[in-house]
Amino acid sequence: MFHVKRRRRMLCYAPMALSRIIAIANQKGGVGKTTTTINLGASLAAADLRVLLVDLDPQGNCTSGLGMDKNTLQASTYHVLTEGADPLSAICSTDLDSLDLLPSNRELTGATVELLGVKRREFRLALALEPLHERYDFILIDCPPTLGILTLNALVAADSLLIPIQCEYFALEGLSDLMDTLGRVQQSLNPKLCIEGVLLTMYDERLNLSAQIRQSVRGHLGDQVFQIIIPRNVRLAESPSFGKPILLYAVRSKGADSYLQLAREILAKMAPLEEKLPYATHSIGVIS
Ligand SMILES: Nc1ncnc2c1ncn2[C@@H]1O[C@H](COP(=O)(O)OP(=O)(O)O)[C@@H](O)[C@H]1O
Ligand SMILES: [Mg+2]
Repeated sequence: MFHVKRRRRMLCYAPMALSRIIAIANQKGGVGKTTTTINLGASLAAADLRVLLVDLDPQGNCTSGLGMDKNTLQASTYHVLTEGADPLSAICSTDLDSLDLLPSNRELTGATVELLGVKRREFRLALALEPLHERYDFILIDCPPTLGILTLNALVAADSLLIPIQCEYFALEGLSDLMDTLGRVQQSLNPKLCIEGVLLTMYDERLNLSAQIRQSVRGHLGDQVFQIIIPRNVRLAESPSFGKPILLYAVRSKGADSYLQLAREILAKMAPLEEKLPYATHSIGVIS
């Protein structure tokens, strides 16, 4: 049995006044969106930050990956988006104290059609999340593998976009469509939206191809690419079948360590304030 608790001060930062909303999107499937949502969320929660994960994919992999039964949900993202249900009525707690989940299942497929005739349909999620800003430090949105109305809702609600890219041959394929969508959202619907970073995932250090893809992505996207690269790690692939984030399944694995480092990189970019804030209390550390 592993415990996740504070061990050492690695990074301190100011408690946040309002939550930062990060949409995790790439219209390619299988690139690590859900894995990143769950494990970045758990890593931030391990630092005592209050984190909400929003499952915005009708496949509900984020929901089942955290051990929830998708088929018995009383309320879900679908009800929040289409019926204006209070998100608090749908939010569930998880095995990690400060990690909550707004779950989803295949009912959400219907939302795409049901929202068609609705005015300001791109703003449904942003509106629903507004009352939650003071409850959470971070809200991470796990997007579906499309650039339809659901992903659009995520981009309108978000402060930033995190783009996982799998280290494989067609890594950059489709990225220009995502960047076009980002540009259009910035112009008309959400001018504050920025790029949180591009995250290389499933990196296999034994393959020349992985190194080539890393170079090519860094060449194209420069310092928009996170320093940390997520390795291919079998523990990361196994943990959803146990309904757990990797911190509760294999805390000493490379996969767990890499997502903790991603959390640190994001926090360091936001507020490297240790010396300025003697009262800052949060830190990230893990002990087994
Ligand atoms: N770093 C990794 N190492 C090994 N397997 C991974 C890694 N990241 C994701 N996977 C596996 O790859 C598959 C696709 O990942 P997932 O996060 O579901 O992608 P997406 O949400 O973009 O469709 C899943 O089976 C997942 O367990
Ligand atoms: Mg997914």
